[in-house]
Amino acid sequence: MLQVSSVTKYFNDQKIFSGFNLKVDQGQFHVIIGPSGCGKTTLFDALTGVIELDEGTLSWKQKLVFNLTHHAAYMQQKDMLLPWFSLLDNALLPSKTGGQNMVNAKKQALKLFNRLGLSEYESHMPNQVSGGMRQRCALVRTLMFNRDLILLDEPLSALDTITRRSLQSLLLLLQTEFKKTILMITHDIEEALLLADEIYLLSPQPMTISRHFILDQPKPRKFNDPVLLKIKADVLDKLEGDLIHEP
Ligand SMILES: Nc1ncnc2c1ncn2[C@@H]1O[C@H](COP(=O)(O)OP(=O)(O)OP(=O)(O)O)[C@@H](O)[C@H]1O
Ligand SMILES: [Mg+2]
Repeated sequence: MLQVSSVTKYFNDQKIFSGFNLKVDQGQFHVIIGPSGCGKTTLFDALTGVIELDEGTLSWKQKLVFNLTHHAAYMQQKDMLLPWFSLLDNALLPSKTGGQNMVNAKKQALKLFNRLGLSEYESHMPNQVSGGMRQRCALVRTLMFNRDLILLDEPLSALDTITRRSLQSLLLLLQTEFKKTILMITHDIEEALLLADEIYLLSPQPMTISRHFILDQPKPRKFNDPVLLKIKADVLDKLEGDLIHEP
């Protein structure tokens, strides 16, 4: 579905990544883990057209595309809810800017609010709800783009552990119920083990894929699965090794 081939990005003389490749098949949940500052957000920004790539090609369903603006919904690392709009109006922004039928869009948004446990909070303002609720609203808004591919940049990182664990099951719904293809960045290895069909472990800059894990255990998963525990140990070993060798 998505093929990223030999992409390169520099910021001035700083090589963030070069000759970077990635392939995502339809319906898959792929997770990216890497050291802070290695270039993960830069990659997502470049894929979605927030910034331009210097070299390389992207193909979407076998066709070359300039970026994924029209194919992917991007939930950015920062909480991007507008404070002067209610949760519902925030969720409806993609439909408004996309010129969609607002009666249908509102119906769809209310269904999603219900499914993601936000019923009765539609008219609350972002500062009147918890961080977990804001993130669920941001997820509703991401789904309102109605795109096949969803890019999530550390969607749960600002939340406490317990809220995060409960929202992880909602992230799984994106794949199982909403049939989305997902590419997600996280620092939480257990989150990756719970959700990913494939994990890409990235190196410090210039960013490359240092390890690739395929996880075919059925979901929902339990952390005490010995295969998952072995992968967790491998990921931690590799990340610690990279930190020790960083200049
Ligand atoms: N607009 C910019 N101009 C110049 N340099 C930038 C810009 N945006 C990011 N960088 C640099 O690019 C590198 C990668 O940043 P990026 O935000 O992609 O890292 P990251 O892997 O997402 O880190 P984190 O895990 O902390 O979110 C950093 O060295 C950063 O300073
Ligand atoms: Mg980042």
